[in-house]
Amino acid sequence: MGIGSKVEEWYHQNGRQLPWRDTYDPYQIWIAEVILQQTRIEQGVGYFYKFIERFPNVQELASAELDEVLKYWEGLGYYSRARNLHAAAGQLVDQYAGNFPEHHSELVKLKGIGPYTSRAIGSFAFANPTGVIDGNVLRVMSRVLGDSSPINQQKTRKNFQEIIDQWVEGQNSRAFNHGIMDIGATICTPRKPGCMICPLVGSCVAYDKGLTQLLPYKEKKLKRSQKYLQFFLPEPTIPKLPIRQRPKEGIWGGLWEIPNVEVDLELWKKKESSYGGNYLTEFKHILTHLDLHIQVFELKGIEKIDWGEVQFISKEEIPKFAFSKAVLKIFDKTVY
Ligand code: ADE
Repeated sequence: MGIGSKVEEWYHQNGRQLPWRDTYDPYQIWIAEVILQQTRIEQGVGYFYKFIERFPNVQELASAELDEVLKYWEGLGYYSRARNLHAAAGQLVDQYAGNFPEHHSELVKLKGIGPYTSRAIGSFAFANPTGVIDGNVLRVMSRVLGDSSPINQQKTRKNFQEIIDQWVEGQNSRAFNHGIMDIGATICTPRKPGCMICPLVGSCVAYDKGLTQLLPYKEKKLKRSQKYLQFFLPEPTIPKLPIRQRPKEGIWGGLWEIPNVEVDLELWKKKESSYGGNYLTEFKHILTHLDLHIQVFELKGIEKIDWGEVQFISKEEIPKFAFSKAVLKIFDKTVY
């Protein structure tokens, strides 16, 4: 039996039941895939249901205010995903009369939809005969093929795409792709793969050669950037909190924040700010390409400083605005 049939057969017996697998609605599949790009399933499910309930279709999403969409995304991080969902919904309404194109080569033209998401929607909603490669699938493929090409390189992904497209040929693409994802997530795990229960053990070069622990291979990353930020809160006796909205572009685009400045490491180490104020706490917040080092100060007279266009809100109003995870952490760690 070929790899494609083994995966598909295994899926029919053992595949996971997940909410977005009950549907062929490309909209729901799209939302689920975008949520799951950087979020674990257990956390993603709740967000998925709430999002779909409030924005049940492309038209509802396109006509909503971006602010409200961001609010539904609050806590998930990587907010460009929510901004892109909103923008692509607009594209679908304007250019496709609100209907999804059915082929991944057309889906990939939509904002925020790349090779992974276009193929996921193409396969799960429209039976496109193509493989869907995520991190789990890359690991399964590296091992089955016994291939030590670096999986974080474009060239490897391109080669693997050609190979997986051959595996899918003649299969039910939806079942095959869900199956290979599940094998990666539940059996062919990074550290202790369950080769004894793997349907692909008989076709696995890494297993044959004892290379499972060495694959997949990843090229070393460059040193991560570090940023030092100081955030300011009013004294607890002052009931009004100044907040401002970040520009649409760039990190945390469109989200709300409390006043803050970037500082150099020297000032950071002193636990002092150039505005004075009482040092409260500090923590590290990790983003994809960046480590943020965050200090929080309580600042007397915060309302007299020019922080740009601010709005003053009470503590009770905090939940009405979409803040980044970093700012929510600040509220958690202080009296806010
Ligand atoms: N992770 C990303 N997409 C997924 C899917 N469709 N099923 C299970 N896990 C996933």
